[in-house]
Amino acid sequence: MLVLGVETSCDETAAAVVLDGVVLSSEVSSSVHLHADYGGVVPEIASRFHSEYILPVVKKAISDSGHGAEKIGLVAVTNAPGLMGSLLVGLAFAKAFSLAKGIPIIGVNHLRAHIYSCFIDKGGMKDKFPFIGMVASGGHTSIYLVKGLDDFTVIGRTKDDAVGEAFDKVAKVMGLGYPGGPVVERRAALYKGESPIDFPRAMLREDKGLDFSFSGIKTAVMYYWKGCSKTESEINRICFSFQEAIIDVIVEKLRRAIGVAGVGRLAVGGGVVNNSALRGRISAMCVRGSVELFMPAQEYCADNAAMVAVIGEELFRSGEVSDLSLNAVAVCS
Ligand code: KG4
Ligand code: ZN
Repeated sequence: MLVLGVETSCDETAAAVVLDGVVLSSEVSSSVHLHADYGGVVPEIASRFHSEYILPVVKKAISDSGHGAEKIGLVAVTNAPGLMGSLLVGLAFAKAFSLAKGIPIIGVNHLRAHIYSCFIDKGGMKDKFPFIGMVASGGHTSIYLVKGLDDFTVIGRTKDDAVGEAFDKVAKVMGLGYPGGPVVERRAALYKGESPIDFPRAMLREDKGLDFSFSGIKTAVMYYWKGCSKTESEINRICFSFQEAIIDVIVEKLRRAIGVAGVGRLAVGGGVVNNSALRGRISAMCVRGSVELFMPAQEYCADNAAMVAVIGEELFRSGEVSDLSLNAVAVCS
């Protein structure tokens, strides 16, 4: 059975077609360039973009799959969490598609889909339980103990900013543009000195469990920025030091989570997992601890519909299904 995935929770309009866990096509149209001047996503602009692009993006995904729309037997759609106006565009489209084709619809949690993205092309998630899952994105930073397809327990979460949001805000302060993550990573890689700035590693120095806090480091960077020389090399040094502090915290929290839960598998997804330095440090920690690591291919780190289609397919096979009363939920874990 072919599954159509639809994703519109934030600023990416995405559709994908999947067959038996294999991604046949994955199409993403991003409105990120329209938000650049504002330093963050403007919800109304994102919603309007989804309205305009949802149909062409779905058509492209279907035609790239090499199959016709009549072969699709299930539509999986992100219905939570996300920007309400954005979620509703994808959800309304998916309902109309389900009704017109007479096929079932299944609602998918975006955060769980990010974790599922780690298992695309790796045989799916079903025989990997239990494991520690983490989402590190622009809107969320949470650690889960995952025991089943529908059994996710939050064991750590950010108390304030999401980690991607911290990258975005720090980049904005330094005038580096939006989104901040990729540019901060590029600038950090240019730092060749040996005296990084000692930015705070919040919730790490004391034993504060598995929660995160990123607002302190953001403020520390802002204060440092006010008094510094603002040369290109100083900007690179700030980016490097900020990124190192963030990575230290994430890696240590993951190491603790694995120890507390006593599991031997880790899956880390979300836009921030695009960061090569972070990927490298998580991999090294897993090698040291003999932990089996799953991370998404870089094309599946940011928002996409392939992750929605594959988890939707696996949920449907396990007996779950939604109906046309399915609604959007802006906030959930
Ligand atoms: O998962 P995602 O595409 O959207 C949400 O669901 O939020 O994540 C977007 C976030 C942005 O905050 C962006 O700055 C961050 O991921 N990001 C990165 C990198 N690439 C994207 N953060 C750090 N390093 C990167 N290379
Ligand atoms: Zn996301």
